[in-house]
Amino acid sequence: MLELSFSPFPVLETERLILREHNIDDATALFDMRKDEEVMRYIDRERPKTIEDIYAFIRKLNQDFKQGQSLAWIIALKDTPQQMIGSIGYWRTDLPNHRAEIGYMLHPDYWRKGIISEALKASIDFGFNEINLHSINANINPGNDASRALLLKHGFVKEAYFRENYYFNGKFLDSEIYGLLKSDISL
Ligand SMILES: CC(C)(COP(=O)(O)OP(=O)(O)OC[C@H]1O[C@@H](n2cnc3c(N)ncnc32)[C@H](O)[C@@H]1OP(=O)(O)O)[C@@H](O)C(=O)NCCC(=O)NCCS
Repeated sequence: MLELSFSPFPVLETERLILREHNIDDATALFDMRKDEEVMRYIDRERPKTIEDIYAFIRKLNQDFKQGQSLAWIIALKDTPQQMIGSIGYWRTDLPNHRAEIGYMLHPDYWRKGIISEALKASIDFGFNEINLHSINANINPGNDASRALLLKHGFVKEAYFRENYYFNGKFLDSEIYGLLKSDISL
């Protein structure tokens, strides 16, 4: 079976960005982002209530990485590598099928500057060439036009639309699934 086992944590560099491991010093920036309703508008997840929730979140992420279950990067500008501006990663994996789900978020001050595109390209390359994934999927709230346009721009194809399959905050929500095969980009 495919293994997600990297030691040390794989730091990625792009032209403007460094993608690195989450650490406890990112907690405040992460807390601000995960309770920002502009950022979270289409991310249907519990908002953190206290910084303690974020400490627990970071500990869990690092533990999941060590156990080979997920791989999530902090996004920072190369000039200010300690300052988290976003995150991207394979939060959920389906290793028997060489498949993983990618997710991302960015601080609104940096939107529409091609930052997630740059990070996404590096994560996709890493996913296919180093993890040896066969496919990458993304699960979006159908209202998330920005995320859909980003995925289409990177060659993802709509694979499914699930009606009211996800219960959050007292409502049943629809989900749209996008997928990218390794062969889609190596053609
Ligand atoms: C979605 C998000 C990650 C995009 O990040 P970004 O760095 O601003 O995106 P980029 O600048 O790399 O944009 C790449 C492409 O995505 C699309 N796009 C990005 N933002 C868009 C928007 N607000 N409206 C429409 N298309 C958008 C465009 O096709 C864009 O290409 P273009 O600039 O050449 O037109 C960012 O808006 C965000 O963090 N949103 C909140 C969190 C979120 O919803 N995450 C996704 C959960 S599934």
